[in-house]
Amino acid sequence: MREQTGPKLHVFVCANRREASSPLGMACGERGDAVFAALKSWVAERGVYAGVWVTETRCLGICPPTGCTIALYPEGQIVSQLTIEDAVQIVEDRWAKTKP
Ligand code: FES
Repeated sequence: MREQTGPKLHVFVCANRREASSPLGMACGERGDAVFAALKSWVAERGVYAGVWVTETRCLGICPPTGCTIALYPEGQIVSQLTIEDAVQIVEDRWAKTKP
């Protein structure tokens, strides 16, 4: 067994896709792709690769009509209907709270 230290903040970004006719409604899809790209850029610009992990994922169970859904760990919090600006602000705030 090998244990490894994880990040201080791990953000899962839904970029799930569905057919337009799906009874489950809109999926985050391209909106999630855009948030994912923005958060990866945010991490790269600050060089905080070890501290903040951003992972693209499938449906997180709250499929918003606008924006996308993210899950934040270690809090285990799910936030939905996010714009790019919302998501970046959340990550900035959470990252700032990890500082001593
Ligand atoms: S499709 Fe993104 S939360 Fe369900």
